[in-house]
Amino acid sequence: MASVMDEARAITPVDVSDIALYVEDRWREPFARLRAEMPVSWCPESPYGGYWSVATHALVQAVELDPATFSSSWKNGNIVIADPPPESNLPNFIAADPPVHTAQRKVIAPAFNPSQMAEREKTVKRRTRELFDALPVGETFDWVESVSVPLTIGMLCILFDFPWEERHDLKRWSDYGGNVSPETASEEYRAQWMAEMGAMLARFDRELEARKALPPSDDLLSRMVHSEAMGSLNPMERLANIALLIVGGNDTTRNSMSGLVEALHRFPGELDRLRADPALIPNAAQEIIRWQSPVTHMRRTCMADTELGGQTIRRGEKVILWYISANRDESVFPQADIFDVGRDNARRHVAFGHGIHRCVGARLAEIQLCTLIEEIVARGIRIEPQGAPERLASPFLHGFVHMPVRIVAE
Ligand code: HEM
Repeated sequence: MASVMDEARAITPVDVSDIALYVEDRWREPFARLRAEMPVSWCPESPYGGYWSVATHALVQAVELDPATFSSSWKNGNIVIADPPPESNLPNFIAADPPVHTAQRKVIAPAFNPSQMAEREKTVKRRTRELFDALPVGETFDWVESVSVPLTIGMLCILFDFPWEERHDLKRWSDYGGNVSPETASEEYRAQWMAEMGAMLARFDRELEARKALPPSDDLLSRMVHSEAMGSLNPMERLANIALLIVGGNDTTRNSMSGLVEALHRFPGELDRLRADPALIPNAAQEIIRWQSPVTHMRRTCMADTELGGQTIRRGEKVILWYISANRDESVFPQADIFDVGRDNARRHVAFGHGIHRCVGARLAEIQLCTLIEEIVARGIRIEPQGAPERLASPFLHGFVHMPVRIVAE
């Protein structure tokens, strides 16, 4: 319900958290309107309560660069638009402010350094090649299930040294961890959520105990268990940080891989450009992450009354950073709806965030996407959608549930 205070505010004409916009692929126009007319706007009512929308590239970056005013800490609120019950707010380092964030990030980040990534790249390339060798040519299959999911889950198994036979558990836990939708509010769902998270914690605790008994190594779980900042985490904090890596690394890259098929289908000339000049592939990987923006938003909580984009934001209010909109900002990306593998500033996208929380796994995601594009280019194939895809019903993850396709050799 709109209040007296709302009257002084720029009230959004559309609730951009409405999942119908994403399921029906109708989000472009409402965000274009917000960028043009009210880059910072207030939505008084939504399934998640009132929230501010920040819609332009410059303002999203400005908020990210001021973590003292715009907090990520789970103690002040959640990091996505929904407010689950406090017991399921995950106390991990993406949901922390300095100094806790700084100390914990320092433990995890070296597991993604260039030499570690070079090692992972070899395995990613081999696994991708093997997966493509086994795909049917000329038959319809689900790209999400047969390509995007196994490639991203496979990468997580490598990262955690997790048995491939147990990969379905990882996928299920990732889906639970990343689910932001009105259904998560029901008691039945919360009970299921607790049970799954409990199972995940028990499974990873076994792994962590095993690492504890061994000398420290560069392995991600070993770093967690042997470091000062993370070695003393309580069970909930341990679970939360593992869930962060599983969800962070999974749905994001998965939906970029599916978005690639849609982009190449809508802009068929781009595959010809990549075939003619494979040196464009790394840029194409950045461009698909911009174009798809698989994480629609992150949320901050305002810690003190402040001005942003001509609006007064009050202490305690939710501020939603719409990356999906910032990445369509025409003042930065001309003809932003076009997927252009040669776009000269594709790297300026904010799909990985910006500032102190910028994605730790960005390089790993780039490696996976470059490898996938290289494989499509090298094999001289085209991936043709067979009918409309089923899109995710989420205001947080922008992606696909199913995508029927056929591989056509050219
Ligand atoms: C943080 C997006 C892949 C792990 C983030 C953030 C975004 C993001 C938006 C928050 C940034 C902010 O609040 O400013 C993406 C996208 C990916 C991707 C679009 C793929 C295309 C990965 C991968 C991993 C990963 C592969 C690891 C396996 C993390 C972690 C953080 C993070 C640990 C927390 C960083 C911090 O708070 O300091 N990512 N991510 N992400 N991501 Fe990613």
